Amino acid sequence: TQHFIGKAHGKIILIGEHAVVYGEPAIALPFKAAPVEVSIEKDTGPVSVSSDYYTGPLEDAPGKLENIKVLLFEIGKELGQTINNLFIKITSHIPPERGMGSSAAVSTALIRALFQYFNVQLNEEQLLAYIDISEKIVHGNPSGIDARVTSSDAPIFYKKNQFFEPFPINISGYLIVADTGKKGQTSHAVADVATLFNDDYEKTTKLIQNIGERAIRAKLAIIHNDLAALGTLLSQTHELLKELTVSDESLDHLVDTALKAGALGAKLTGGGRGGCMIALAQSERYAMVIKNKLIEQGAINTWVHALEGE
Ligand code: MEV
Repeated sequence: TQHFIGKAHGKIILIGEHAVVYGEPAIALPFKAAPVEVSIEKDTGPVSVSSDYYTGPLEDAPGKLENIKVLLFEIGKELGQTINNLFIKITSHIPPERGMGSSAAVSTALIRALFQYFNVQLNEEQLLAYIDISEKIVHGNPSGIDARVTSSDAPIFYKKNQFFEPFPINISGYLIVADTGKKGQTSHAVADVATLFNDDYEKTTKLIQNIGERAIRAKLAIIHNDLAALGTLLSQTHELLKELTVSDESLDHLVDTALKAGALGAKLTGGGRGGCMIALAQSERYAMVIKNKLIEQGAINTWVHALEGE
């Protein structure tokens, strides 16, 4: 049987999380070390799916797969097809609930696979519109960054509700991503930053602006191939995020571990309070040393992601 394959990948926030909620810029990176593949083949009978989460007929799937049902319906309508007789296999290497864009990546890969199956050209704008339909079901009010980064090969510099600007990587280095093993608590952390704003407006504004400035400088460091400067900016930003109260012991411990093991910089990534951290290394050899130390010190999962020009 013929397989129709759609691919996508996860996302990591390099710098700017939390400040981005208050209008500062941030940078998100395509996270190719965490790929997703959706394969579609012809089958008989109603649509069925296979995934880590659920395997069986799509119509009996739990609410969590509602976005997939809606996508199939919308795409079927647009293409004038009744979507039936399909077997959809979802293989995701993105850890769920880590703010790594797993839902947007699965949608991207599924949409790409479906358009291939029906042999219809899919443009960027259509793709983003479909991912958006799915993300609204999963997340309610998505910022749109996951949709863009999980379908893009370039880093994206963005401001919430303002712009998404892909830019080239002129740097070569390695990012180590490590999972603390604790589910991130993004919504709590976001709410606590809002409280901090009420309690001390001036101090909190300053912290947020300092993070935003570092996001701008990080973009320049990436464009001008200044790995050391990028490392320093990442570590400084972790300190600022600590002051915003969104880090925790498990993240701080892994950040310290990475720096002691030779990282050029390290910080939490995403919502904080658990979830993941990132560290920057100048070579693959250093990246491996740092990765092993992180595992030794409690990371439950690690990935090494090459930063390189396209
Ligand atoms: C979470 O991955 C990133 C935050 O900045 C929240 C958001 O941008 O919606 C903490």
